[in-house]
Amino acid sequence: MCGIVAYIGKKPAQPLLIEGLKRLEYRGYDSAGLAILNGGLNVCRAVGRVANLEDKLEQTGGLQGTVGLAHTRWATHGGVTEMNAHPHRDDKSGICLVHNGIIENYSVLKTYLQEKGHVFTSETDTEVLAMLIGELYEGDLEKAVQAALREVTGAYAIAVICEKEPDVLVCARKGSPLLVGIGSGEYVVASDASAIVAHTTQAMPLDDYNVVRITREGFRSSDIHDVEVSPKVMQLELDLEQIELGRFEHYMQKEIYEQPTALRNCFRGRIAMEEGKVVLGGLSAYAKELVRAGRVILTGQGTALHAAMIGEYMLEDLAKIPACAEYASEFRYRNPIIEDGTVVIAVSQSGETADTLAALEEAKDRGALSLGVVNVVGSTISRQTDAGVYLRVGPEIGVASTKAFVGQVAVLSLITLFMARRRVMSADQCARWLEQLQTIPDKVERVLEQSDRIKKVTERYCDRENWLFLGRGYNYPTALEGALKLKEISYIHAEGMPAAEMKHGPIALINEGMPAVFIANKGRQYDKVMSNIAEVRARGGHVIAVATEGDEEIKRHVEEVLYVPEIIEPLSPMLTVIPLQLMAYHAAVIRGHDVDKPRNLAKSVTVE
Ligand code: AGP
Ligand code: GLU
Repeated sequence: MCGIVAYIGKKPAQPLLIEGLKRLEYRGYDSAGLAILNGGLNVCRAVGRVANLEDKLEQTGGLQGTVGLAHTRWATHGGVTEMNAHPHRDDKSGICLVHNGIIENYSVLKTYLQEKGHVFTSETDTEVLAMLIGELYEGDLEKAVQAALREVTGAYAIAVICEKEPDVLVCARKGSPLLVGIGSGEYVVASDASAIVAHTTQAMPLDDYNVVRITREGFRSSDIHDVEVSPKVMQLELDLEQIELGRFEHYMQKEIYEQPTALRNCFRGRIAMEEGKVVLGGLSAYAKELVRAGRVILTGQGTALHAAMIGEYMLEDLAKIPACAEYASEFRYRNPIIEDGTVVIAVSQSGETADTLAALEEAKDRGALSLGVVNVVGSTISRQTDAGVYLRVGPEIGVASTKAFVGQVAVLSLITLFMARRRVMSADQCARWLEQLQTIPDKVERVLEQSDRIKKVTERYCDRENWLFLGRGYNYPTALEGALKLKEISYIHAEGMPAAEMKHGPIALINEGMPAVFIANKGRQYDKVMSNIAEVRARGGHVIAVATEGDEEIKRHVEEVLYVPEIIEPLSPMLTVIPLQLMAYHAAVIRGHDVDKPRNLAKSVTVE
């Protein structure tokens, strides 16, 4: 959660920090602030969006200086107030910091610091860390940060400056992401690459317990015990155009429309049609282990878990491997049994989700082979896994995940075929699957062309406060995803569930005109879904069906039909989810919500 950006160099820091905050705003947006060193320490904070901070800076004449740090917050400890907004400072030592994460032992530390005479002005855990560094400061900022971090538990990415060392910036991480962008005579520290690429494409991702001391002349990388760590510099692949809105009104809209291209990029070079096989460079070194795998556990949260559930169905159905998908947050604490030959697949857009990361560590410690299905290159999960396959769908900025979902399902289908071909599938069979897979980008395009019609249907129902999303088999997870999309950006209460489960309780909710979205494409359970549709309508519910092109009959049984092109059932979620994404998008716009920054949410959840 939250975005950090910090700068040391020769340029005026304020415009650069504000621009960085705007790029990072999708990570957290309840309040924002910055601090710049110029003789003394100057701080400005504001509740609300970065634009409010900008206005405030304008009214007060702005801050001069070439060293500074900034933050856009997603509150965990203490309400959304100016006093709780970052940066936080320790006046006695002149130390000032921004923080992403949670200091879990802040309460004991606070009592200790209060006994030492420190007076707190906020309710945050972060201010405790600022005071602790101040308490331990003896003229060397780097040493004070290391000493303080040896005392804290929890998760942090921090950037710290000190009035007494005006040419030094120190940053550190454990659990929350942080990158140091390396320019010439200047450095930009940020939570992700989007705030760095305008300045440099060379960056060093910090590892856990890494502390980096930066001056304009260079940097020193160590750990919290002051043992030097050799820096690993990487090339950022992100280009600015990819993170700009262009002709679109919202990032979510842009990302929905990018899906055909995203899928083509995902498949490029990975489908060897003539040989009837999938080429996944990232997995080739582990092909033998994957052939012999006894079980696959897929894990993630939210949308990523829904994709993982589809992966579970595909792996069992096509590769004949026992598989299960589990919430990472549950898996990590339930003392899981990992037998020999277990493969764990962590599914994550950001590659930074705290629960998914912890589940991965747990599985690795118990001997599982770990794979990542991740979008952000160089992210923590991608670095912690034994091997993996990137989504290659480009940066996803809208908080509601869309193109990452289809990318995750696409990659999981590639992994399934990679394993299936080596276990149970002939080259001919595999080639037939791959042919189908390759038709998907064009078919997604065809669904997107129906956006206006989907908008009209949404208009008819979006004043209703309760919706159901129902599906079976491969499209049960799609129903969960449709409900999640609708609730997170339009704030409509929506429940997703297996269509058959409805009659075990939720059917009591159905009243006159309640919208029920059924994923009713042609497949093994089509007739069963039709029976469930009848049950809903018998109780006055209105059915919006996602059906297969050519199914004219269904029109007689439902209120609305949204068509998707025909595709082999296991691959159908990549098509059936598209109308659901568009419905959620239109509903949020019609209801006047901020589509890209829904209330209470943040793009990646790096705390428990
Ligand atoms: C989806 O729209 C959500 N924003 C959320 O459920 C998300 O998918 C989840 O937090 C997992 O994130 P990750 O893919 O970055 O790990
Ligand atoms: N725990 C800190 C707070 O509540 C940091 C939250 C964040 O990561 O934005 O202020």
